[in-house]
Amino acid sequence: MAGGREYRIAVLAGDGIGPEVTAAARTVLDAVAARHDRQFAYEEAPIGGAAYDATGRPLPEATLDVCRRSDAILFGAIGGPKWDGVPVAQRPESGLLGLRRALGLFANLRPVRALPALAGSSPLKPEIAAGTDMIVVRELTGGIYFGEPRRRWTTDEGRQAVDTMPYGEREIGRIVRLACELARGRRGKVSSVDKANVLDTSRLWREVATEVAAEYPDVAMEHVLVDACAMYLISDPRRFDVIVTENLFGDILTDEAAVIAGSLGVVPSASLNGKAPERSDSPGVQFGLYEPIHGSAPDIAGQDRANPLGAILSAALLLRLSFGLEDEARTIERAVDAALAAGLRTRDIAATGVRTVGTRELGEAVAAQVAAL
Ligand code: IPM
Ligand code: MN
Repeated sequence: MAGGREYRIAVLAGDGIGPEVTAAARTVLDAVAARHDRQFAYEEAPIGGAAYDATGRPLPEATLDVCRRSDAILFGAIGGPKWDGVPVAQRPESGLLGLRRALGLFANLRPVRALPALAGSSPLKPEIAAGTDMIVVRELTGGIYFGEPRRRWTTDEGRQAVDTMPYGEREIGRIVRLACELARGRRGKVSSVDKANVLDTSRLWREVATEVAAEYPDVAMEHVLVDACAMYLISDPRRFDVIVTENLFGDILTDEAAVIAGSLGVVPSASLNGKAPERSDSPGVQFGLYEPIHGSAPDIAGQDRANPLGAILSAALLLRLSFGLEDEARTIERAVDAALAAGLRTRDIAATGVRTVGTRELGEAVAAQVAAL
């Protein structure tokens, strides 16, 4: 297959370690392009604190334009103490939240696998974590992240604040449906996570999830309370196949689940809007934003110490889900396994008997494996 179409990737590196990990992911994508004869065109745009510093806004209109004319977005990380004093609407986080909302990226997929090579890096006993293979489907554009009213004020009694968690049946239905579809291609189990013993939004969630599950007789759905889920995630993680949950619960549970993988630094994510990219020629693909689930880690930024594997594995998801390039995605995933098997580790997953390397070197090693595999 020679040449073919050009795929446009918007690169939003962001703050902290974002530029380092996205650069490593690009090194790997370039190796994939060379090996599989593909054309990837990158367009960089500022987001988060970096965009605020440059333009006064965390999500400049020009950045949104770059995203809209791309086929997929590779995202690094945003935020840092430097912007702690900035008004809420201009905070780096508002840039990412605004982007998710503007592009309708309602479905956040976070696959968590216990990588055998990293068994020693997880604080969990290997016999508990081994074999874990789950995907968390987090609702990403609703709930308490976006609900109104949200504000802060002062009364005679002192400072007050309110946030609001709204959910509607359409919003719940589409994310649960997506989880059921995913489960069909896996082990056929969906764990819907809520707090139905306390919250009205959760009671609605459970009701709608049960109705959607009835459309999928081949999928087994269980309902798990979020507090119990937090416990099962680290006491019996293999019980989970697909977890589906609302925005805030999903945020918290996926940081916890990353412990199973060995490090927050290795977990990728895909945020999808259910629509095909404008110029798509592969059936079944969706527009998406791809980012490691870790944050901007300002404490180690610019030191070549960050783990690039979360960003690199996010690039694999990008190829698979937005470009329909399954072979290329697998090449990256196998190259990551090979680099780990060769004994290369960043500091967060360092262990005895392996070599600790920097962000760039690990990215280059994965790229070399892509070329060699
Ligand atoms: C994540 C992050 C974001 C979130 C922050 C940076 C707004 O923690 O993607 O998990 O809470 O969604
Ligand atoms: Mn988070």
